[in-house]
Amino acid sequence: MVKILLKEVKEFKKESILTPLCMIFEVIFETFIPLCSGAIVDNGVKQANMPYVWKMGAVMLALALGGLISGCLGGIFGAKAATGFARNLRKKMYDNIQTFSFSNIDKFSTAGLVTRLTTDVTNIQNAYQMILRMAFRAPISLIVAMIMAYSISPKIANVYLIAVIFLATIVIILMISAMKYFRQVFKKYDDLNESVQENTNAIRVVKAYVREDYEVSKFKKASENIYKMFVKAESKVVINMPVMMFTIYGCIISISYVGAHMISAGALTTGKLMTLLQYCMNILFSLMMLSMIFVMVSMSMASAERIAEVIKEEPDITNPENPVMTVANGDIEFKDVDFSYAVDGKGEAVLKDINLHIRSGETIGIIGPTGSAKSSLVNLISRLYDVTAGELLVGGKNVKEYDLQVLRDQVAVVLQKNVLFSGTILDNLRWGNKDATLEECQAACKIACADEFIQGFENGYDTYIEQGGSNVSGGQKQRLCIARALLKKPKILILDDSTSAVDTATDAKIRKGFLEEIPDTTKIIIAQRISSIQAADRIIVMEEGRINGIGSHDELIKTNEIYKDVYESQNGGSGDFDEVGDPVKSQNTEGGDR
Ligand SMILES: Nc1ncnc2c1ncn2[C@@H]1O[C@H](COP(=O)(O)OP(=O)(O)O)[C@@H](O)[C@H]1O
Ligand SMILES: [Mg+2]
Repeated sequence: MVKILLKEVKEFKKESILTPLCMIFEVIFETFIPLCSGAIVDNGVKQANMPYVWKMGAVMLALALGGLISGCLGGIFGAKAATGFARNLRKKMYDNIQTFSFSNIDKFSTAGLVTRLTTDVTNIQNAYQMILRMAFRAPISLIVAMIMAYSISPKIANVYLIAVIFLATIVIILMISAMKYFRQVFKKYDDLNESVQENTNAIRVVKAYVREDYEVSKFKKASENIYKMFVKAESKVVINMPVMMFTIYGCIISISYVGAHMISAGALTTGKLMTLLQYCMNILFSLMMLSMIFVMVSMSMASAERIAEVIKEEPDITNPENPVMTVANGDIEFKDVDFSYAVDGKGEAVLKDINLHIRSGETIGIIGPTGSAKSSLVNLISRLYDVTAGELLVGGKNVKEYDLQVLRDQVAVVLQKNVLFSGTILDNLRWGNKDATLEECQAACKIACADEFIQGFENGYDTYIEQGGSNVSGGQKQRLCIARALLKKPKILILDDSTSAVDTATDAKIRKGFLEEIPDTTKIIIAQRISSIQAADRIIVMEEGRINGIGSHDELIKTNEIYKDVYESQNGGSGDFDEVGDPVKSQNTEGGDR
């Protein structure tokens, strides 16, 4: 794990070496300062030798300046290395996340990825900076001060030694008990981010369902959990400081006591006692730093693991060795396909025994209640997920043989939860084909019945779409998404409930456009309204992950119970596949403008 992370800091090798080096210089300068101040007292003040005081004062000033400069330089190099490290980590993670398949993302959750990219990286950055600046400085300063103290007075140095051992023991005990909580904190951050993200993404739905209170309490719980964890961890860490102070004052008193006796016996000078007291401070300060490093490192270990997980994660859908670069036609064949969302294939099967042959150019309607795995079925075709068992052929070849980009360009999916990005309408359309001309964009929009409302906008195709498409209606957004998919000129076009927010007349117009303009494209239309798929060559009725029936509208009316019921209920007026008020369904349709 450490190796994976260290790779990202290579670029800052120079800074990573210079920082501790500068800090070591700082220690050297600092070590001589107490000697000078002692000498000033003994040789200058006591003997009223003003020129000596001036001279040593100047030396001290120079030393302090040297310490300051090396300290500053160390700080600058350290900051550069640590922030650069953080930048590289973020980039590396981000690049890898781009290769993730849907199931990789399911595994981490979007919120989890956000925490890892932000909080966890910041932790590593802080810890790294601390390590660079203090990991060498603190122990060296401690040892040097110790040696100097022993060379001046072994008797007093022994007092330090006892204090150091006492403190070190306490600090280690405290830190180990705090560590356990720090490790848990980050898991809780995921929950918090999830709550924030979900709420802000779906704020309109939250408001529409008057669920603010529920969301607020969910958020409160998540932040309460973090609060509790931190209080527990910090309550261990805060003991650190009083113990430290207690030891420092204890040391000063004992040194003063022992020192006073030694001075009156003539074994020590006042100046030397002063020097010793300053070393005492240096030693204890170093110890404090060491304990802080210990905390930061243990805190960031959890973060490091979480970051390494993302960097290490291999996308489970990758390009084959010698990919097929052309899709022959829009022929689709499912052979004994089973599918489950769990990566290891152990989870409950969502799709079972799917055998299906769709001929190139056919129009297929899919209907079935929410949760009957309609979306799961079509997502397999463009390899958003891989089948768990069986085989899926497109254009006569297994989807796994194709270059992913080629396959996804030829199999255009308008996802059920589709999004627009901030940018103009043209920018958004060109996601489908970045070289598309304005005429091509207009042609696609005409088929998708988007042209009519775009012309109505003041800026036409240059109208700016806000983030998430919040300034266009659900139906308009759906039509733009269809146009965007059409621009790929795909051999297979899949619409996953993509006209749910479009009125019936426009819906019919779009279907007519498909028939006239893209007759050779295989069209798969998932819909809730029978009217949307009634004219399809064949209709698939899905139920609980299985194909319940397949045939034309006229055939199904006669042979398929479910289809007949739905048809009758919709013609009877309810017009909806699911029971009225099913929240999932309602969200998908009216939430089109989320
Ligand atoms: N990303 C996912 N991870 C795990 N389970 C999922 C995921 N997406 C859908 N499911 C489950 O798969 C089943 C079928 O869902 P889906 O294909 O979306 O149905 P439909 O599109 O017919 O409403 C449901 O039980 C749903 O809970
Ligand atoms: Mg669906």
